[in-house]
Amino acid sequence: MTIITLAMMFLYSPTLAWVAVAAMLLYGAARWAWFMPLRHATEEQIIHAAKQQSHFLETVRGVKAIKLFQRQEERRASWLTLLIDQINADLRTQKMLLAFKVANGVLFGLENIAIIWLGARLVIDGQFTVGALMAFLAYKNQFGTRVSGLIDKFFELKMLQLQGERLADIVQAAPEAEPEEALEIDTAALSATIELRGVRFRYAEHEPEVLCGLDLTIAEGESVAIVGPSGCGKTTLIQVMLGILPPTAGEVLIGGQSIRRLGSGALRRIAGTVMQDDVLFAGSIADNISFFDPNADPAWIEACAKMA
Ligand SMILES: Nc1ncnc2c1ncn2[C@@H]1O[C@H](COP(=O)(O)OP(=O)(O)OP(=O)(O)O)[C@@H](O)[C@H]1O
Ligand SMILES: [Mg+2]
Repeated sequence: MTIITLAMMFLYSPTLAWVAVAAMLLYGAARWAWFMPLRHATEEQIIHAAKQQSHFLETVRGVKAIKLFQRQEERRASWLTLLIDQINADLRTQKMLLAFKVANGVLFGLENIAIIWLGARLVIDGQFTVGALMAFLAYKNQFGTRVSGLIDKFFELKMLQLQGERLADIVQAAPEAEPEEALEIDTAALSATIELRGVRFRYAEHEPEVLCGLDLTIAEGESVAIVGPSGCGKTTLIQVMLGILPPTAGEVLIGGQSIRRLGSGALRRIAGTVMQDDVLFAGSIADNISFFDPNADPAWIEACAKMA
């Protein structure tokens, strides 16, 4: 459709059509020149907004500690600084958009002046009728709206990549590995022995090892308390035993089966855990003990509460 419109414009007057095409090319070039600075400003805007929101949520979550240490004013001041940074970043983006809009207006204004001036001269010289000039202007408007719309959409799509990049960390995170073939293991029949064989774990390649070749056997019915100074790796050990953190070397076995073969789903069905930093969900204590199981047995909930 746009090509037909352009062909019609060239049919009416090649000179005027070239002016319209040149204006469009200039518009595309201006959009391109503005793109990188605008992308940079938008990125800054997203980062500042994220910082401000994280600070705010952290404050709401830690309000008790903030009050106990009387740090309300400091928290408020640092949050306001972040908010101002965010507003400034927003303003920078808005200013760039405004400048682009002005440049845009000037460009298309000049294009209109050039076309009407050239068109009027053609009419005066008798090479063009007023009706033909009007028809040309109608085609030119249609052509301008379509092509600038296309250019805008192209750059908007490119800008969306920026949002995509921000989400990539989450979207591209590998899902928890499950065993390739589902094992027909009757988890109810497994004995409740827990065995660790030469388990090693480090959080990252250049971090020191937290677990360095741990061997441990816990028999069925046995109660074991693991004690040690803060940071010695108790929580890490439990997370390795639960399959939340995969060991760097060694194996964890439940009832003689490696938890890698068992899969995290089966393992978590047979293991009950209360972590150090667990949170209570809105509901009763009984709801939280049964984790909102609609078919929970009240006697079992009571027994669990007494055991705890
Ligand atoms: N997500 C993590 N990334 C990198 N290092 C971590 C991470 N979590 C813990 N560590 C480090 O691993 C070590 C063991 O931490 P862990 O939380 O297992 O100790 P802990 O014995 O549970 O301590 P606490 O008694 O304070 O709960 C510490 O040196 C800690 O700094
Ligand atoms: Mg811990």
